[in-house]
Amino acid sequence: MAVTGARTFRNFVGGEWVDAAAGQTFESRSPATGELVGVFPKSGADDVDRAVDAAYSAFEEWRLVPAPRRGEILFRFGQLLADHKEDVSQLMTREMGKVIAEARGDVQEAIDMSFYMAGEGRRLFGQTTPSELRDKFNMSVRMPIGVVGVITPWNFPIAIPSWKILPALVCGNTVVFKPANDTPLLGERFVELLVEAGVPAGVVNVVHGYGSDVGDRMVRHPGVPIVTLTGSRETGVAVLKAAAEGLKRVHLELGGKNAIIVMEDADVDLAVEGIVWSAFGTSGQRCTAASRVIAHERVYDEVQSRLVEAAERMRLGPGWEPDTDVGPVINRRALEKIHSYTEIGRDEGARLLTGGEVASGNGLSDGFFYRPTIFGDVEAGMRIAQEEIFGPTTALIRVRDLDEAIRVANGVPYGLSSSIFTRDVNRAFRAMRDLDTGITYVNAGTIGAEVHLPFGGTKETGNGHREAGQAALDVFTEWKSIYVDYSGRLQKAQIDTAT
Ligand code: UN1
Repeated sequence: MAVTGARTFRNFVGGEWVDAAAGQTFESRSPATGELVGVFPKSGADDVDRAVDAAYSAFEEWRLVPAPRRGEILFRFGQLLADHKEDVSQLMTREMGKVIAEARGDVQEAIDMSFYMAGEGRRLFGQTTPSELRDKFNMSVRMPIGVVGVITPWNFPIAIPSWKILPALVCGNTVVFKPANDTPLLGERFVELLVEAGVPAGVVNVVHGYGSDVGDRMVRHPGVPIVTLTGSRETGVAVLKAAAEGLKRVHLELGGKNAIIVMEDADVDLAVEGIVWSAFGTSGQRCTAASRVIAHERVYDEVQSRLVEAAERMRLGPGWEPDTDVGPVINRRALEKIHSYTEIGRDEGARLLTGGEVASGNGLSDGFFYRPTIFGDVEAGMRIAQEEIFGPTTALIRVRDLDEAIRVANGVPYGLSSSIFTRDVNRAFRAMRDLDTGITYVNAGTIGAEVHLPFGGTKETGNGHREAGQAALDVFTEWKSIYVDYSGRLQKAQIDTAT
């Protein structure tokens, strides 16, 4: 495992590495061992103000850099990330705990996004249309918005910043970035590589710290017209409220309560594999994690027993050990929240089939490890089947047919990801149409979205926007419609109809 030593890090503002104005700091520690990973500035409003000023000044020049040139910087960034894939992945497993194979996947997702968005530098397509009038030319173009406030979570500490920062940059915006305070080191590495790739001073700025200080100021700052956040529902609502007064653009990617449907005609081996990967991968700490399994009554018992068997075989440990299946959860608060849902599930009358406890001993006692947990006989309305737990806990629900399965799957406040295992093409297409989520998988689990399709969800998962794919460009640009009249006379649209 790569060891950096517990260095003290700084903010990055206007191309300089600087301490926070008030001189306060906070620590980042490994959730597997408690080891100190780094010390970071606990910034405040003054630091945000300086970063916004720097980003605001840089915007004037950056927006004029030809988009293909901006794209070339992203190509270099993608290449640098690829060159550093292993060391960044090692830092990731150490700083936030996910197993090394998944850490590599997280970095790979950012590499993919770099190359995808770099290519946008030569596209950023608008439309040209006919005009109603003679000798007149119509087109729409994408314009950058200005300084983008970027607030990212700890669970995909390289991939999610890439989903936000890279499209923002290729579109000609500048950025003030607040990495999650559980993963400041990875935020720092991300920006170091961007700088090495050639991003000019002031175009990307990093301000470390807490949401209540840094995030709050960023969202309220009059120089930040757009904020993008991936986080909890509560934070999303707070950001929307704080941004309302300034009528800011807000892009939100919030929670999920994703379900896998297993029909009686499914390949049960495949389904169980998909459930294990989606429910317990990243210790269940993905917005897309499968926290519900909706099984047809004819296969319910088989799914249940196979799943319990598979969960009990999973080995817990530090993410950097090659035989670890499940790493720690992010911190003590998360561990307590996850365990509180075990209590809630028991009190509600669900049957705890396996797990349901903090794992200790065998080198696990210094970290935040929770056993893969499965509840059976869960009713669709129970809290464990309605609320996002964000841990390695999943709930099995029995249904009689596809209609009921879809009704149960849709019967939650969130709408991020869904999945159906079936061999029947008609059922698959009905599910594709009727599952009310932003993402639907057929014969695969609920996780593993690719960067060139829109990512996001319906209902309380967000506010109607999507990141990744072409859809991301709509978040980070404003449309401008342009009419050029080369007739030499004043032509009146809707009036001169007979030209
Ligand atoms: C998240 O948990 O917020 O589809 C992102 C997936 C990953 C991204 C998850 N590609 O599971």
